[in-house]
Amino acid sequence: MIFYFSGTGNSRFAAMKLASLTGDKAYSIADIFGGDSFKKEGLPNVTGFVFPVYYFGLPEMVKRFAVLPGLRDLLGSYVYCVITCGANPAAADAALAKALGREINYSASLVMPDNYVIAYNPSGPEKAKAALKEADSKLEIISRDINRRKQSFTKKISKTLASKALYPFYNLFRTTLFYYADDNCVGCGLCERLCPDKAIEIKGGKPDWMKYKCQHCTACINACPQKAIQFTALTKKRGRYYILNLNKNKNEPRESNDN
Ligand SMILES: Cc1cc2nc3c(=O)[nH]c(=O)nc-3n(C[C@H](O)[C@H](O)[C@H](O)COP(=O)(O)O)c2cc1C
Ligand code: SF4
Ligand code: SF4
Repeated sequence: MIFYFSGTGNSRFAAMKLASLTGDKAYSIADIFGGDSFKKEGLPNVTGFVFPVYYFGLPEMVKRFAVLPGLRDLLGSYVYCVITCGANPAAADAALAKALGREINYSASLVMPDNYVIAYNPSGPEKAKAALKEADSKLEIISRDINRRKQSFTKKISKTLASKALYPFYNLFRTTLFYYADDNCVGCGLCERLCPDKAIEIKGGKPDWMKYKCQHCTACINACPQKAIQFTALTKKRGRYYILNLNKNKNEPRESNDN
C-alpha cells in the first residue's frame, strides 16, 4: 500500500507512478480522512508514504495520519518514504519515522517543480517540465530499489537541526487569514473541490476559508484558472504551478503552469 498526500500534484504524480512500477495501490490520505474506505491490498508487507516536504518537515495531515492508533497494524515490515521537494527535504523522513514510532527502511527524495507561490515565483513551464522528466527517471530507480527491498536511511544531525529550526514556521503560516479571492473569481468552485483539507466553501459565488488553519498546500492559489486567489498582495504578480488531474485514479497529468 502507498499512502500519499499532495497539494499541487507532484506527490500524487510520484505515488501513481510508483504504484504502477511496483505493482502496488496508492491511496490519498486526504480522501481517507474525507471518509473514503480502503482495503489492505497491493504489495504485501510493503508500505510506502509519498508526500511533499513543508518547512523541512511533514504536512500536518501526514503527521496526523502517521500517529493514528490503528495504522501500525496496517504497516508492512518494509516501510519506505519518497519525499517530493523544491530543493531539500532535510530530516522530514526522520520526522515520519518518529510519528510512526518505528524505523523507516528506505527514504528517497525527488526534486520536483517548486510550488511555494507564497514565498517566491513557482517553477516556470520549462523548468517544471525538466524537473518532472528527471523525477520520472529517478522514480524508475526508486521503484527498482523498493522491488529489491533496499535498506537506505541515514539520519544526519545537520539535517535534524535544520528541520528543528525551520519547521515551527509552518504552523505560523498555516493561517487562512490572508487568503482571499479577488474580482477575477468567476465562482467555478474548483478551489473548493480541490482543497484536500475541506477548508473552502463557496459562499455567495466566492470562496470562503472556513478554518483558521489549513494544510497550506497552495492547491487553491495555484490551481485557480483565473489566478483569482491571493495570499496577501504578494502573490498577485507571481506565476502559478499545478498538475491538474481531476481523475485521481489515473496518472494523466495536464499541466496548468502559468509563469
Ligand atoms: C508550505 C510549503 C512549504 C515548503 N517547504 C519546502 C521545503 O522546506 N523544502 C523544499 O525543498 N521544498 C519545499 N516546498 C516545495 C514542495 O515541497 C514541492 O514543490 C512539492 O513537490 C510539492 O508537492 P505537491 O505538488 O505534491 O503538493 C514547500 C512547499 C509548500 C507549499
Ligand atoms: S477556483 Fe478561482 S475562479 Fe473558481 S471559485 Fe475558486 S477562486 Fe473563484
Ligand atoms: S485552503 Fe488552499 S492552501 Fe489551504 S489546504 Fe485548502 S487548498 Fe490547500
